Amino acid sequence: MGYFTQVEQQIVPEGGGRGGGTEELYWVAPLSQLLLKNNPFNARSLVICLNHPNVVDPWRHMSAWFRSSNDDNIIHDTVGGKKLYEVCSADAGFGQLLAESMGGDSWMFSRAMVANCKEAFEGLSSLVDVGGSTGTTAKVIAEAFPSIHCTVFDLPNVVAAESLPNLDYVGGDMFTDDIPPADALLFKWVLLDWPDEACLKVLKQCRKALLSSKNDHVLGHESCSSGGGNSDRGASSSLLLDLMLMAVAEGCLRSEKQWGKLFSDAGFSSYVITPVAGLRSLIQVYP
Ligand SMILES: C[S@@+](CC[C@H](N)C(=O)[O-])C[C@H]1O[C@@H](n2cnc3c(N)ncnc32)[C@H](O)[C@@H]1O
Repeated sequence: MGYFTQVEQQIVPEGGGRGGGTEELYWVAPLSQLLLKNNPFNARSLVICLNHPNVVDPWRHMSAWFRSSNDDNIIHDTVGGKKLYEVCSADAGFGQLLAESMGGDSWMFSRAMVANCKEAFEGLSSLVDVGGSTGTTAKVIAEAFPSIHCTVFDLPNVVAAESLPNLDYVGGDMFTDDIPPADALLFKWVLLDWPDEACLKVLKQCRKALLSSKNDHVLGHESCSSGGGNSDRGASSSLLLDLMLMAVAEGCLRSEKQWGKLFSDAGFSSYVITPVAGLRSLIQVYP
């Protein structure tokens, strides 16, 4: 990536006016603007996070892990024995970096989601953002739809942010605790961190909760491998994300067919996938 680009600037002669000619300067390239602190959507924390030793080390162990007879599908077990979110709770600085990097991502993609998929939120009076981190996505939804009461549900060491009139936070573990009841349960970039068995456990619990309260649906703002289209760039983004999920978490990038199988195995009756941007899609899943 070229971080800088050359631009031509007019030279203003002493005393003003024209005729000073031009000079060539280096300036941040359009893509590098995403690394500037004062850009509301900045990918700075994401870039720092992706280069953190906790994220880079597992890649270095991939070859040994691949050739080992270890049946476990988690490279972290080979590296330090801790899984991604255990590392986050043991290393508060890294946990904060991951939360910040997710917040930057959510700032942009959640705006695209509410702009492109308004109808998915219309008519809802409550929503729980499961694994909602420090609440960036929930804030975007709470602002866009003031009549929806949003609850962020995440691990107790993660949820700690300012509440709004229609936004609050609940600490808990989605695998062992009850997810608070709501018209819709949202997962944004959460299920992709986990293998099918773990996703099935959470999705079955969600379906039961939705059926018992006659509520609406599960919303997944997740990545889908078909989202990038057939371009080379789309294919290489899919491959890279899939590898990264394997290296640092226990998850994978799923195709539309794989998502469909997961939802049907969890007992859901139907789903609709709406592309949002790039690999991101909004998936509405109905009990
Ligand atoms: C990839 S991050 C996505 C965060 C947020 N949804 C976003 O897109 O900005 C996954 C989130 O899942 C949360 N998480 C992981 N294990 C969890 C668990 N057992 N129960 C609840 N949340 C969990 C993490 O703390 C983290 O905030």
